[in-house]
Amino acid sequence: MTLCNPPNQALGLSIAMDGPAGAGKSTLAKLLAERLGYLYVDTGAMYRALALKALRTGIDLTNDAALTDMAGQTCVRLERGILGNRVFLDEQEVTRDIREPEIERVVSRVSAAMGLRRYMVEQQRQIARKGGVVMDGRDIGSYVLPNADVKFFVTASLEERARRRQEQQAAKGHDIPLNELLADIAARDEQDRNKGEHSLIQTPDAILIDTTDRSVDDVMAELLSHCRRG
Ligand code: DC
Repeated sequence: MTLCNPPNQALGLSIAMDGPAGAGKSTLAKLLAERLGYLYVDTGAMYRALALKALRTGIDLTNDAALTDMAGQTCVRLERGILGNRVFLDEQEVTRDIREPEIERVVSRVSAAMGLRRYMVEQQRQIARKGGVVMDGRDIGSYVLPNADVKFFVTASLEERARRRQEQQAAKGHDIPLNELLADIAARDEQDRNKGEHSLIQTPDAILIDTTDRSVDDVMAELLSHCRRG
């Protein structure tokens, strides 16, 4: 595998941000990175890009060995864009494609292939080697960057997370019933909690941030105060 994401050049803290789907993690991680002048690394986007490739190439999604082989021959590159990360799959831009509902449905399965994860973790550690990053995902504080300077565990109630996902999808013209989203998110939570050493867990040193009924500004002020202390 080629390490197609060069290490970040900036020096600074390494900040891990984990949490379940729809908790507001990526919005917060992106803003925090902007405020600190750091690189934002959306690790979920890396798994989404691999899920897209698996679908496009027709790989059997239950075949971990085939998924791992595919990951070893794939370059997923993140580039800083005006509206957050731009995502490139083998040098073709897929920033929008990876947010489509068919990816939502398969990405958790694809990201559960342990061999495939090893390739992605190697890339993620390489990017964060020099600090100056806010990295968001599920296993960042527990596995990818266990020595991160600041760790956040961002969560919100299941209902609120489903409502937010519904709004996001509606903005893209997809009208999805709330019940369906509640069931999807609950199923994804279950899958995210069952990925062995990569499972979504709050480590003892992570700061719990519950975003239910809180404004982005309010939460941002809290995150920044921890980073300044960090
Ligand atoms: O945060 P997201 O919805 O874009 O993540 C997409 C999928 O990838 C989701 O099913 C969880 C998984 N994921 C993971 O297993 N490990 C990470 N570090 C980030 C995301």
